[in-house]
Amino acid sequence: MSGPALRLTVNGQPTSVADVPTDERLLDTLRWRLNLRGTKEGCRTGDCGACTVLVDNESVLACLTLARELDGRAVTTIEGVHADPVGEKVQKAFVEEVALQCGYCTPGYVMALTSLLKERPAAETPEILEDLQGNLCRCTGYLAIRRAVDRAVREAP
Ligand code: FES
Ligand code: FES
Repeated sequence: MSGPALRLTVNGQPTSVADVPTDERLLDTLRWRLNLRGTKEGCRTGDCGACTVLVDNESVLACLTLARELDGRAVTTIEGVHADPVGEKVQKAFVEEVALQCGYCTPGYVMALTSLLKERPAAETPEILEDLQGNLCRCTGYLAIRRAVDRAVREAP
């Protein structure tokens, strides 16, 4: 059962997606119907944060979200986060601190951190790190990730 086309604004673009079943995850809609493969699939159970995207600026786990529940909403993925001044700073912080090894966890970190800094621009690094505990790096590159977070906290507009 798929019903009418799903309407989303994806990375600022009005987007209509046909034939989306009611039980399809947002992660699959993004990766396989819209070809936005930057959003990663890790655990599939809400435990790693690799699939984090923004829905109206709040971070959401795309592996646990049904696409059809978001009809009419705005979704931002790693492919579009640079258009946001905070997102751009966060991306740059990860690049400048070389805070990635395989890079699989990086989009999730960038999206989660962007959401936190937009929500709480005055937050300090320790509380932001606390709130990022739902994001995991299988390469265990946490020292560089912490440096990137600290840089983003200091430099985000
Ligand atoms: S794939 Fe969604 S939280 Fe791990
Ligand atoms: S850099 Fe490989 S999972 Fe984090």
